[in-house]
Amino acid sequence: MNQDDLKRAAARAALAELVPGTLVGVGTGSTVNFFIDALGETPERYAGAVSSSERSTERLRAAGITVFDLNHAVQGGLPRPVYVDGADEIDPGRHMIKGGGGALTREKIVASAFERFVCIVDASKQVATLGAFALPIEVIPMARELVASRARALGGEPVLRAGFITDNGNQILDVRGLRIADPVALETQIDHWPGVVSVGLFALQPAAVVLVATALGVQRLA
Ligand code: A5P
Repeated sequence: MNQDDLKRAAARAALAELVPGTLVGVGTGSTVNFFIDALGETPERYAGAVSSSERSTERLRAAGITVFDLNHAVQGGLPRPVYVDGADEIDPGRHMIKGGGGALTREKIVASAFERFVCIVDASKQVATLGAFALPIEVIPMARELVASRARALGGEPVLRAGFITDNGNQILDVRGLRIADPVALETQIDHWPGVVSVGLFALQPAAVVLVATALGVQRLA
């Protein structure tokens, strides 16, 4: 089994988590792309999607899936039980680093609008402690150096993601060298830095369910 087979297996397993007649929240990334493909084949499993990026929206529409605007979904009180997304790293507490694909802010917004985060990963994403993967921080461009200096004060090495602008018109700093012993505390701390739009730590709202694909099958952690 190659890595794409594992990603596809985790993505297909997420179909069983959906609640027919409700909206599904859809994340962003290569694993989610397999999930979108699976959604396209099983329209009876959901009533429509809320998307976390322009890329996912495009793929959802190409698969014939209705994409709901989040404001309309919330205003209309449409049931939103399950959000499905990948992760760059996930620890035993089901805290995650996300944003390798740069969609962290909308992912965090859409995830927070749904009841349960279902994380789909292959086993290579599981770590004992978060931080080997560089932590993405979306920043308002004028605050970039200020945020970078604060990240350095924590012992991190921030690098501007070159040539990349988020769907929200902002920049991303990828911060290497942080060993994240307390993800909840660090997410809370960075969230308070002026100029930070969002940090790619998903610890205050961890995954409710993790579907981990291995060569032996998909393991469900909850
Ligand atoms: C997108 O911004 C990210 O949060 C992705 O969800 C995460 O990087 C996982 O992506 P892959 O499934 O491509 O590894």
